[in-house]
Amino acid sequence: MSSGFAHLGSLHTVEALRTHLRKLGIDIPVDDELLTGSESPLRQPIQAGRFSISNRFTIQPMEGWDGTPDGRPSALTLRRWEHFGRSGAALIWGGEAVAVRHEGRANPNQLLLNEHTRADLARLRETLLRTAPTGVVLGLQLTHSGRFSRPNSRQPEPRILYRHPILDRRLGLPADYPLLTDGDVRGIIEDFHRAARMAWEIGFDFVDIKHCHGYLGHEFLSAYTRSGDYGGSFENRTRFLREVAEGIRAVAPQLELAVRLSAFDTIPYAKSGTPESLEEPTPYRFAFGVNPLNPVEPDVTEPIQFLTSLRELGIRLVNITAGTPYTNPHIQRPALFPPSDGYLPPEDPLVGVARQMEVTRALKSRFPEMIFVGTAYSYLQEFLPYVSQAAVRGGWVDSVGLGRITLSYPELARDVLEGRPLDRKRFCRTFSDCTTGPRNALPSGCYPLDEHYKKSEAGKQLRAIKDAARKS
Ligand SMILES: Cc1cc2nc3c(=O)[nH]c(=O)nc-3n(C[C@H](O)[C@H](O)[C@H](O)COP(=O)(O)O)c2cc1C
Ligand code: SF4
Repeated sequence: MSSGFAHLGSLHTVEALRTHLRKLGIDIPVDDELLTGSESPLRQPIQAGRFSISNRFTIQPMEGWDGTPDGRPSALTLRRWEHFGRSGAALIWGGEAVAVRHEGRANPNQLLLNEHTRADLARLRETLLRTAPTGVVLGLQLTHSGRFSRPNSRQPEPRILYRHPILDRRLGLPADYPLLTDGDVRGIIEDFHRAARMAWEIGFDFVDIKHCHGYLGHEFLSAYTRSGDYGGSFENRTRFLREVAEGIRAVAPQLELAVRLSAFDTIPYAKSGTPESLEEPTPYRFAFGVNPLNPVEPDVTEPIQFLTSLRELGIRLVNITAGTPYTNPHIQRPALFPPSDGYLPPEDPLVGVARQMEVTRALKSRFPEMIFVGTAYSYLQEFLPYVSQAAVRGGWVDSVGLGRITLSYPELARDVLEGRPLDRKRFCRTFSDCTTGPRNALPSGCYPLDEHYKKSEAGKQLRAIKDAARKS
């Protein structure tokens, strides 16, 4: 499946990109030339609390669906983290989502942090540090997968906070499917405290209290229809954040805290590439950061309130992302080619890139003292370094987050920072095989461009799955 949108590869110059952006009516800053040495905006350090972050690239959390059934890293996980270190980025945001308890794993191969896995997580950290630049700042992303939990097999075992008219239907949940009780929520909060304490003892510099991509932390923010302590008012919907953060401060006072936030959303999209029709009239009460009267439109009023809460909690490190990979991947990770469970892009993927950049810029200008990492740059391909430099130079963002491109070309940041020639053959072309793999119970990796995955048994299986899909 491919879309009818222009391939970026057909735009050979920065000027051609600018013309294309003008035609699309969007604003993405782009520099004509990359600056090197001390002149480079991408080489300027940032002070974040007790950390000095020595350059402006961040490696985004990237799961591989390749841990052991009991939540420990495999050889593939170690390889990925070694690549993260080798990237040259000064900030490693989480490595990947690590579950705080078994039942909250997004898949049976997700990493877990508990007494049983502690030594293995320590080894993972050391593996990364062996290849990373001196002074790298390394956090761990802590998660509970909530509605998207699949801890034991591909079979969903959702832990939900409220009834969602579209997602409950997709998951086939009966009307009496149980909600997590406030008591259950308190138990999960304690798991976050315990896991964060362990992360500190292992030596991680910070933990990310994940609030994105439809997982539990994010679902709290849209729990408008939930009653009890954790739903309804803004105060209640952010109680989880506060109780997690305050408890971590009590058990690991020197551990820095960070939050990755889906700062806007949209309604779930159907296979046709159009928004699902709403059975219930607006206002839509099932997404955070959208206009309830027109829920395909971002509205950052509450995300601004959320960032104000982070500031009050002394959390300065934020990573802005959007939506969820299961229901609206086009706003979350813009791509020309959809994953097997996705849909053809309903807009030029550059529009998705611009939307995330613009929202991040607006939030940064509102909270200049906070450190913002931006997302969704991989689609920019060869233009990524030029856009990154312009965005940092112009104050749109403090650090540029690198997601999929880290799987295809781990050393991109290092090559840009050191003024080396860039390896065109390794730029991510957004084929989405790193998502199609896990959707079909295979590990994630860059199957088209990383020889290790291309030649693997899983690579053969993935090609067979894609061939069969093409013929059907
Ligand atoms: C295979 C894969 C695994 C991912 N794993 C995580 C994860 O564990 N935690 C997270 O917050 N985001 C995860 N993401 C989202 C990325 O961090 C990032 O937000 C997204 O890919 C968009 O950035 P990009 O355009 O640079 O790829 C994952 C994305 C992909 C493709
Ligand atoms: S499989 Fe490789 S080329 Fe395709 S989206 Fe993932 S990283 Fe990019």
